[in-house]
Amino acid sequence: MDELKEWRVVELLKTTTEFFSAKHVDEPRISSELLLAHVLGQSRLQLYLNHNRPVYRDELESFRALCRQRLAGRPVQYITGEQFFYGMQFHVDERVLIPRPETELLVELALESLAMKEREGIANPAILDIGTGSGCIAVTMARLSPSLRITAVDISRDALAVARMNAEKHDVASRITFAEADMFDERFAGKLPAERYDMIVSNPPYIPVSEWEGLQREVRQYEPALALTVPEGIECYRVMAGHAEQLLVPGGKIFFELHADAAATVSELLGTHGFSDITVLKDYSGHDRVISGTGPVRN
Ligand SMILES: C[S@@+](CC[C@H](N)C(=O)[O-])C[C@H]1O[C@@H](n2cnc3c(N)ncnc32)[C@H](O)[C@@H]1O
Repeated sequence: MDELKEWRVVELLKTTTEFFSAKHVDEPRISSELLLAHVLGQSRLQLYLNHNRPVYRDELESFRALCRQRLAGRPVQYITGEQFFYGMQFHVDERVLIPRPETELLVELALESLAMKEREGIANPAILDIGTGSGCIAVTMARLSPSLRITAVDISRDALAVARMNAEKHDVASRITFAEADMFDERFAGKLPAERYDMIVSNPPYIPVSEWEGLQREVRQYEPALALTVPEGIECYRVMAGHAEQLLVPGGKIFFELHADAAATVSELLGTHGFSDITVLKDYSGHDRVISGTGPVRN
């Protein structure tokens, strides 16, 4: 990039996109736009509307520093510290998984189901989010359904700090209890507030270790492995189905995100734990992505 040249937004984006493409950076155009928008304190739409705006020397230097990080493979979201999820802005950094658009489906389905429960007269439902990470599921649900109370659990204290920050940012921290607990610990339930939940939601680690090498380099290098992989891929569903017996109200609901290949195995597993109405829903790319079910109704 010529430092003496007077750059304008439109040509800087074009040149950077071409440079990123030549260097095989993923999503070169979007990366350029998000980084420049971040430096200029504007949205991507504003960049288009102000495409002839000059880019001043100090802005150019900041932009170049961010581009160098992107060239090294660091995901844009960690560079800018933000990711949009369900139309809301979340802080993200290397302590948490970057929320994925597929997970919005889980939130949408869970909120629909809660709206039905509320129509049936269940007031102030209690929700448990296992593996909350950035808090994207818990915070979005709390924000969009003002009567909810949520317990957000993670094994990672670092992740919980980010989730708490996001809850405060969106003004829902007073309705979320954060708990540090390992779902594989047999004393897991004892580490949560003593209550039963109307719904358990989770996007747990579900990538089998055997698939680790096949993941994108920037995922392997920058995102927390703890958030992504487990030895076989289905271990978390097994323990969560077990916890549900103790933690879910009779007839309570579960919504879990899935590996696209795991639907049949997880359906069977939930069946053996007494769940009914087991339904697998596809994401917008046509992959099995969310499994829902109704917990056993006891007398
Ligand atoms: C796939 S990430 C999901 C994060 C966030 N809910 C989302 O949808 O973007 C899984 C999360 O589970 C947490 N986790 C991993 N193993 C766990 C365990 N044994 N017990 C509780 N949480 C765990 C990770 O720290 C990570 O934050």
